[in-house]
Amino acid sequence: MTTHYSVEDAVAIIRFDNPPVNGLSHAIRADVRRGLRTAFEDANVRAVVLAGGGGSFSAGADISEFGTPNSGMEPSLSTLIAEMENAVKPVIAAIEGTCFGGGLELALGAHYRVATPTSRLGLPEVTLGLVPGAGGTQRLPRALDLATAAEMISSGTPRTAEVLASLTGQRLIDRLVDHDVVPAAARFAAEVAAVRPVPLIRDFPVPDGGSDVLAEARQRAQRRSRGFHAPLAALDLVEKATTSSFEDGLAAERQTFLELVRADESHALRHVFFAERLARKIPGVDGDTPTRPVDQVAVIGAGTMGGGIAMNFLDAGIPVTVLETSQAALDRGLATIRRNYQAQVDKGKLTSATAENRMGVLATTLDYRDVAQCDLVVEAVFEDMDVKRSVFTRLDEVTKTGAILASNTSTLDLDAIAGLTSRPHDVVGMHFFSPANVMKLLEVVRGRKTADDVLMTAMEVGRRIGKTGVVSGVCDGFIGNRMLAKYRAAASRLLQEGATPAQIDAAIEDFGFAMGPFRMADLAGNDIGWAVRKRRYAEDPDFPRDEIADALCEMGRFGQKTGSGWYDYQPGSREPQPSPVVDALVAAHSERQNASSAEFSRDEIVRRLIFSLVDEGARILDEDIAVRASDIDVVYVSGYGFPRHRGGPMFYADTFGLDRVVEALREFTDGAREPARLLQELASAGKTFNGR
Ligand code: NAI
Repeated sequence: MTTHYSVEDAVAIIRFDNPPVNGLSHAIRADVRRGLRTAFEDANVRAVVLAGGGGSFSAGADISEFGTPNSGMEPSLSTLIAEMENAVKPVIAAIEGTCFGGGLELALGAHYRVATPTSRLGLPEVTLGLVPGAGGTQRLPRALDLATAAEMISSGTPRTAEVLASLTGQRLIDRLVDHDVVPAAARFAAEVAAVRPVPLIRDFPVPDGGSDVLAEARQRAQRRSRGFHAPLAALDLVEKATTSSFEDGLAAERQTFLELVRADESHALRHVFFAERLARKIPGVDGDTPTRPVDQVAVIGAGTMGGGIAMNFLDAGIPVTVLETSQAALDRGLATIRRNYQAQVDKGKLTSATAENRMGVLATTLDYRDVAQCDLVVEAVFEDMDVKRSVFTRLDEVTKTGAILASNTSTLDLDAIAGLTSRPHDVVGMHFFSPANVMKLLEVVRGRKTADDVLMTAMEVGRRIGKTGVVSGVCDGFIGNRMLAKYRAAASRLLQEGATPAQIDAAIEDFGFAMGPFRMADLAGNDIGWAVRKRRYAEDPDFPRDEIADALCEMGRFGQKTGSGWYDYQPGSREPQPSPVVDALVAAHSERQNASSAEFSRDEIVRRLIFSLVDEGARILDEDIAVRASDIDVVYVSGYGFPRHRGGPMFYADTFGLDRVVEALREFTDGAREPARLLQELASAGKTFNGR
């Protein structure tokens, strides 16, 4: 961590360098202030350029300082910005790479901003449950049109300097320069050195269009946020910018920041932020373990999963060869990939040239010799051990030494699959989620014999293709689906006790899940689970019957695709309508069972569902299937729609109090099932999952 100070042609250049992202730690803030003071006092300096090192301005506050004495230590970012604003000599921010959060607030406090077109500017504080705390909510609306500022502040989404510079009336970007931003900013500084008074964003008028723009932004945020508070708090502050003095706006921003930083929501979001990074660390595997090069990938099977998996690699520019059993299957798979890319082009998310480039590195084959030289093979064929056997036997015969053989199996035993080859140490699970080109989560399944460098390579490849990787041991369903089975069972028990699908879904959606279990089932198709159940009933006469779900399927109510399931659907609509047929089915069942058909409170429904996840999560942790509790949180947040601002099931349980979780679980199951051993132990020791 260093700060360079130099003077050239009467322009001082302060370049702060705090790898990897130039976080504005206390030491950096103090250094920058020292640099500014030196420049302001030096009669030979006429203007100052402020720049970040390593090709990036700054990604903002050093969040590892949050809650430590350093975060509040002077100079705070606000103090630094005030000192800069009050200076007589102009300060020019030279922006390249990322300019986020506190970094953008610092740049907003400068008198001018010179940026490269591809640099990205944003205020992502809401993604950590916060609002900008150093004037961002008051200055950005004065530098841009209100709609753009409101959207950037409430969604946290960054924009490129090129896009921002093209907005009508904007005063955020003073000059775009193609490259070498620091010398360009120095030239700009020389041009404006004599201009007085120096322009201050705080003195710019707030653009018009206030209440309508903000009402719309609020509606959008409300739709998106599902009980998540920070975006709405951010919009209140943007509104404040339009109705109050700059100073009052700053004071309100400070107040809101301090409230939010102490709230559960922000703790939860910061927990997830750190948990995602921690998930990359695998105990017992040295961070220096070399990974194997992956430049060429094969995907076996071009069905639902294979096509999506292939797209991930194509998107990252990694050539893929897809292997199938017939030309017809290849053609179908290829057509789906092409259609998905076309849809992205139609939505303006991709140019047709880029789509063509991606398709250009895709090859197809029916011949295993064409995948022999691949560095990584991902198998996504039918979920059937005999089919897997034929594939892995062939792969073992043809692929080069050192090739990584990955399976996307969701239920089969990875160790048994590895045992089909003569090189089980090269076999690993890469469990993608559907749709595989969209879903972030990747469970990397570590077999008994998986080599460390194979595991690390699978994690690293996951990172390259934009996935959030979590290591799981081998068990039925791995981390995510094993827990999901218990969650579904808890939902089904609630039905049997008389709660309706609409009640259950509403409660869990109100908690923040994107979709409740019954809406989800209608989307996925109820016939799939039914087929599995029928097989299980046939195998094991004592297998517990899910009578309500079976009765539903016997009526042909398979979900959205048949126009009815747990809900009714109007033709052509995906909007679920509570169904009198289903309500009657539930009522009749609970009457037969003599269930109390008690009114369930939303809280009880949520606890029953979430604590079922927690209980199974504790077992998974106890069996060392998951490395740590926070990995389970990452699985649920990135793969199962668990509300990020609740931190994941294990974090939620920690905050709730594990002793109360144990008590609630006993009550929900009438003592029929003992809560997980680890959960009970931690609860009686007064500990937490994440702190154990
Ligand atoms: P799918 O039935 O859509 O596709 C399987 C494809 O494999 C078909 O195109 C078939 O022609 C091809 N195939 C079959 N035998 C083959 C062989 N010997 N050589 C080459 N290709 C062969 O199945 P889906 O849903 O894509 O599942 C594939 C795997 O992914 C399974 O192991 C499944 O458990 C797993 N999985 C599925 C998820 C899902 O949501 N569908 C989620 C996560 C994992």
